[in-house]
Amino acid sequence: KNITGMIENILPERVFKTLLDVGAMADELGFKCYLVGGVVRDILLRKTNEDIDIVVEGSAPEFAKSFADRHGARAAVHAKFKTAVVIFPDGFRVDFATSRTEYYHFPASAPMVEDASIKNDLFRRDFSINAMAVKLNKREFGTLLDFFGGQRDLQDKKIRVLHSLSFVDDPSRALRAVRFAVRFDFMIGPHTDRLFRHAVNLDLFERVQGQRMFLELKYILSEKNYKKALRMMRKYDLLKFFHKDLRLDERKEAQFDSLEMILDWYRFQFDEEPELYIARMAVLFSDLEKSAVKDILERFQLDEHKTLEHSECFKQVKDSLAWLKRSKKMPNSVFTRHMSRMATPCALAVSALVGEIFEKQVKDYFSVYRYVKPDIGGNDLLAMKIEPKTEYSNLLSAVKDAKIDGKCTDRESQLRFVAELALKNGEK
Ligand code: CTP
Repeated sequence: KNITGMIENILPERVFKTLLDVGAMADELGFKCYLVGGVVRDILLRKTNEDIDIVVEGSAPEFAKSFADRHGARAAVHAKFKTAVVIFPDGFRVDFATSRTEYYHFPASAPMVEDASIKNDLFRRDFSINAMAVKLNKREFGTLLDFFGGQRDLQDKKIRVLHSLSFVDDPSRALRAVRFAVRFDFMIGPHTDRLFRHAVNLDLFERVQGQRMFLELKYILSEKNYKKALRMMRKYDLLKFFHKDLRLDERKEAQFDSLEMILDWYRFQFDEEPELYIARMAVLFSDLEKSAVKDILERFQLDEHKTLEHSECFKQVKDSLAWLKRSKKMPNSVFTRHMSRMATPCALAVSALVGEIFEKQVKDYFSVYRYVKPDIGGNDLLAMKIEPKTEYSNLLSAVKDAKIDGKCTDRESQLRFVAELALKNGEK
């Protein structure tokens, strides 16, 4: 089956042209190149996907370097894994991997084992729907290789592993299965389901690298239907691999519903997408003890900056929630000062968790108060000969607070306000 027409229709023109260029260069260098993985699946589902993964029979680093040279791009090579990424000046990236044939050696010349190398590469992949390839060399450009029934499973809406040891080879595939099942509204095939439960019982997840666990959770929480994915994780008892106390119950689901409402409002108001997964993760973790969140973050093994960013956010959400619930009512300026210490996704998580009593204040904060600035500045204070200058920023933020609380909304009243305040503080 040749799917050139579909590729051309579905992928953006520049991506399609790049694939033709890859094929032409593969012929020149005497390599074979294939488009593989998620993008092939998505083309068959008539969805676009610009994550281009190419398998090279030959040397991916060598191919990538020549390709980058020819097309004015740069190649970053990962020699140990025999992979490379070509990055174009506009940021468009193409990933190249050398076909994995290390376990078997197939004589390339024997006609009956033609495609053996790519077949072997595809066989090591997670699910049939992700294990299809498209030939890119010129003569056969667009030929679909589907050795394991990927097209049939796409039609039957089924997630199916290629062999019984798939989850043992890589337990993080269980989380991928959940993600794809939810994204495409597919079922987990019956045999795959048994293997899946078996992998959970064997506690294989301890072996999965922390960063992988983080990324898979991040991807799941970035899915539109993430609530369904979390329910599926509960069904398969996967939540415990993140933390033994992690729960998804009706209350948590209601909190996610509130979060989605505030996110919808935010998107509509500001035409901007906050980092969804952080807000959702903060809600997911909001009932955990601080020590549990710390354990999770240690397990994730993120770099220092990311660890700090996430732990800060989760901690702020917890503290803020406790404080707001205790305080109940407060002036808008106090609320604003509190909220503006948090990054937007964390502030949105707090808004979702804190409940209706703060709904108006939350909305006013995002649409008005966070932008409020005093109408007077340091020059005005200088002109008024207020000393010491080190107090200026405190005075100006007091003016801002007063403006937020509606006490002085124009320059005149703010000048009067600041003069009185300076006098009261004993400044000159
Ligand atoms: N893959 C795999 N096992 C994994 C991860 C990836 O076999 N644990 C293979 C699959 O063939 C997958 C490909 O590597 O299609 C690329 O992986 P990735 O980019 O993570 O997934 P995509 O399928 O492209 O998913 P998405 O659409 O979410 O990017």
